[in-house]
Amino acid sequence: MNASVRILCTVIGLSLAAAMVGGCGGEPDETATPQPADQQTVTAPAEYTAQQLSYRHEPLEADSATPGATTSGGDPGDNATLARSFENAPPLIPHAIDDFVPITAGENSCFECHNRDDAADMGATPVPDSHLYDIRRGRQLGDLNPANYNCTQCHVALTDASILVDNEFAPDFRSDTSDSASDLLQRLNEGVE
Ligand code: HEC
Ligand code: HEC
Repeated sequence: MNASVRILCTVIGLSLAAAMVGGCGGEPDETATPQPADQQTVTAPAEYTAQQLSYRHEPLEADSATPGATTSGGDPGDNATLARSFENAPPLIPHAIDDFVPITAGENSCFECHNRDDAADMGATPVPDSHLYDIRRGRQLGDLNPANYNCTQCHVALTDASILVDNEFAPDFRSDTSDSASDLLQRLNEGVE
């Protein structure tokens, strides 16, 4: 600790001495009893066990009760698209993806069908404008933003998994098309100008 820091610590230390123990200059004093400011007894929250925290009602690190789930879609081209979970949510993948993962640096089957030039011929929805744009730098890229390369980071295939926790969430779509189409890039700065 240099001299000026030591002086500053001394000044702070003197003025807060009644309320603070330890502080400047290294390890806190383990033997001192902290004094709560309002002198009220604070009860620590109950400690939850790993089992109580688990939605599967078993220890978090165990997976014997993990419900099995299989993707329910058929090959691309055989499925109806699914309503968006909320406005501009990444759409669920309605088809099976087993043949297209893992996505690797050298091969991205998803983009082979969903790129803007070929999607129509494939009967697939093309990636939206937002995927070709660098949102952080405000730049049009003209090609897939590498940040969007790993499709399954955001898009997941529909499975038959049962709901672990019931909820009453209901999406509130603002237009007739926003349950089936994406326009995130157009919406991003809404209300800013
Ligand atoms: C062989 C072409 C092909 C490949 C490969 C493919 N898709 Fe698709 N995808 C389709 C078609 C066609 C549809 C339309 C629905 C259908 O028929 O299954 C679709 C639908 C989708 C949708 C829903 C779009 C919407 O408008 O709701 C998403 C999301 C999607 N695919 C993501 C992916 C991802 C992620 C991968 C890679 C893991 C992938 N797809 C691989 C052809 C393909
Ligand atoms: C970082 C998350 C993320 C990644 C990675 C990502 N997407 Fe998306 N995707 C989204 C979101 C969010 C939307 C809907 C909002 C939007 O972007 O307009 C979307 C929308 C889509 C749509 C629907 C387009 C429409 O017009 O409705 C398709 C198809 C799609 N993505 C395919 C892909 C494919 C293929 C990849 C990989 C090459 C990919 N996405 C990677 C988040 C992601």
